[in-house]
Amino acid sequence: MVRDTMRGGERTAHDSGPAALGGERVAYDGDPARFIELDGVEKVFDVRRKAGLLRREKHQVRAVDGISFTVPRGQMVGYIGPNGAGKSTTIKMLTGILVPSGGRLRVAGIDPSRERTRLARRIGVVFGQRTTLWWDLPLRDSYCLVHRMYKIPDARYRENLERCVELLDLGDLLDVPVRQLSLGQRMRGDIAAALLHDPEVLYLDEPTIGLDVVSKAKVRDFLRDVNADLGMTVLLTTHDLTDIEQLCERVMVIDHGRLVYDGGLSGLHAVGESERTLVVDLERELPPIDDVPGARTVRVEGPRQWLAFAATASAAPLVAAVAERYPLVDLSVREPDIEAVIAKMYAERSAER
Ligand SMILES: Nc1ncnc2c1ncn2[C@@H]1O[C@H](COP(=O)(O)OP(=O)(O)OP(=O)(O)O)[C@@H](O)[C@H]1O
Ligand SMILES: [Mg+2]
Repeated sequence: MVRDTMRGGERTAHDSGPAALGGERVAYDGDPARFIELDGVEKVFDVRRKAGLLRREKHQVRAVDGISFTVPRGQMVGYIGPNGAGKSTTIKMLTGILVPSGGRLRVAGIDPSRERTRLARRIGVVFGQRTTLWWDLPLRDSYCLVHRMYKIPDARYRENLERCVELLDLGDLLDVPVRQLSLGQRMRGDIAAALLHDPEVLYLDEPTIGLDVVSKAKVRDFLRDVNADLGMTVLLTTHDLTDIEQLCERVMVIDHGRLVYDGGLSGLHAVGESERTLVVDLERELPPIDDVPGARTVRVEGPRQWLAFAATASAAPLVAAVAERYPLVDLSVREPDIEAVIAKMYAERSAER
């Protein structure tokens, strides 16, 4: 087992102290297309591994291995990848919690690890696995502390709190200590806390983890609003691909610390060679259809047959071929399952290695 002997200088969300986060916010006058900018960013962790009863071996983990991308202002981007791919490490570097081992990184023109407190004014962070709220305090008191820490003007604070309470359905929860909240309630509380100081960028590390479908829908609706109404730039990591499908125009896939895909969801289908399915109902039970070029029958149940074909191909010639040769009663086309595309992509990369 790999045991962390070093946390890479990791800091917690609030360790700068209340006074430290005040100060003026200067408008970003750089290129809006490069609002977030990473150029060859690396993070290497030194860890010690047990190598016998008493012996420990030094060992390095390249968690992020030369990542470059830019995110324009106002975009909502999905950042996905298998466990241990380096997603959280990237987000921690973007917030200044971790210092990169190499490369260049800028958020709104600021180098996060050098000017962490100046950056804190402009970013909001939610770690689904760990709350940034004060465990023993009611939500309301946690928010008061955020109000003071960030020196949010009173009127602005009240307005933002009201908006979050309404849209995230927090009204009945404000006086409940954080430790008594359910996971879904706590997550909504955390998201509100991250937005009270009007950040321009929101990082969400698995904001829907462990939530039921209703809570997930609530969180997604809220994030969609925040991105559309406030033009907030959002970077979202998740293992729930429905989050991505419903929220993100762009998705980046990271694997073993490297960016392996950057583009739209539809492009991912092409890269993953995903398939659509033609479902045909025939007049009667027949042997599997095997004479339609470009399609292969993957399932037969009574008179119904499922024919897989390349997602990028047109269904029309297949339908025509089936109709010409078989007694066709009904048909439908099923879109490819993004979950399957991603799983295939991860598996293929792992086999390559
Ligand atoms: N503080 C640390 N010290 C040592 N190694 C670390 C540390 N943080 C992360 N790692 C290692 O770096 C790699 C990337 O971890 P990271 O948490 O960024 O992955 P992730 O993509 O967020 O995964 P998950 O989907 O499981 O959250 C892993 O191999 C992990 O063990
Ligand atoms: Mg993670």
